[in-house]
Amino acid sequence: MEIRSAAVIGAGVMGSGIAAHIANAGIPVFLLDIVPQAVKDGQGNDRSVVARTAVEKMLKTDPAPFMHRKAAGLITPGNLEDDLDKLAGVDWIVEAIVENPAIKSDLYRKLDAVRKPGSVVSSNTSTIPLRILLDGQSEQFAQDFLITHFFNPPRYMRLLEIVKGERTRADAVEAVARFCDVALGKGVVTCKDTPGFIANRIGTYFMQAAVNEAIDGGLTVEEADAISGRPMGLPKTGTFGLIDLVGLDLMPLIAKSLLATLPADDDYRRIFRTSPVIERMIAEGYTGRKGKGGFYRQQKLPGGKRS
Ligand code: NAI
Repeated sequence: MEIRSAAVIGAGVMGSGIAAHIANAGIPVFLLDIVPQAVKDGQGNDRSVVARTAVEKMLKTDPAPFMHRKAAGLITPGNLEDDLDKLAGVDWIVEAIVENPAIKSDLYRKLDAVRKPGSVVSSNTSTIPLRILLDGQSEQFAQDFLITHFFNPPRYMRLLEIVKGERTRADAVEAVARFCDVALGKGVVTCKDTPGFIANRIGTYFMQAAVNEAIDGGLTVEEADAISGRPMGLPKTGTFGLIDLVGLDLMPLIAKSLLATLPADDDYRRIFRTSPVIERMIAEGYTGRKGKGGFYRQQKLPGGKRS
């Protein structure tokens, strides 16, 4: 099979970046999200508002997700209530919605009802094992499903983790891997179906440990990032800068997903406590770059540690 058209569901941090990168490869792509509650409540009538706003935002972002502004024209924004039937003609559907297995499963059932036979569906989940995502799905869906875990930002990060299930069709995996390698320029690594796969099993442990140490030890954000960035071979953003980029709200979801799947005696578990500092920031809308700002638009860690 060959991928000539695509759709991305979820126009957030990752979904919008993945859609842009697919468009960069010259492939038309639908970018769909849910209808915002405000629109349902009658405040505003443009039902494709989330995805359309994501495309507009990307055109103003630096560094730009698009290789050329014209690539943006290959993205058709829409919403799942009005545009689900558009997926009937699509070769590859990428799911990039909230990191919650029940919400993802519910979406898969909807996709399975409309997608064309032989199309491939992949999840961009950070941590949820494929066997859990497939719980309750049809046999055909299981054969056409895999995980494609892109890294943030999708245009610039070369690594792509692929996880296939026991039932995933070999030709589906091969087609997606080939497309991601040749058209999207990714270095594809195939992982076992372990919680967090490879990069997040190591990376989120490191991030979580660095956050706990910094907060418990009273380090400033800048001090923690100066140590945990370039000197340790990590991005120059350091840990807190990276959390701002990734989205603070994703941290507890990742912790929850890993804790739900790790054995009770796994040493790895003890590190995954979510700091009250992060909980409070999320509650107040400081979810990072996508929200009101994160650690780097604050002068100090909420909770009193000095800036
Ligand atoms: P996000 O919070 O920025 O965006 C999620 C989008 O999904 C939102 O626009 C939301 O409206 C939409 N959504 C929620 N429920 C939906 C539903 N039922 N149907 C359709 N759309 C729905 O999240 P983000 O960070 O883009 O994460 C998406 C996925 O990518 C998650 O599985 C996450 O674990 C994974 N991921 C995130 C990375 C990051 O750096 N943020 C990196 C790699 C993977």
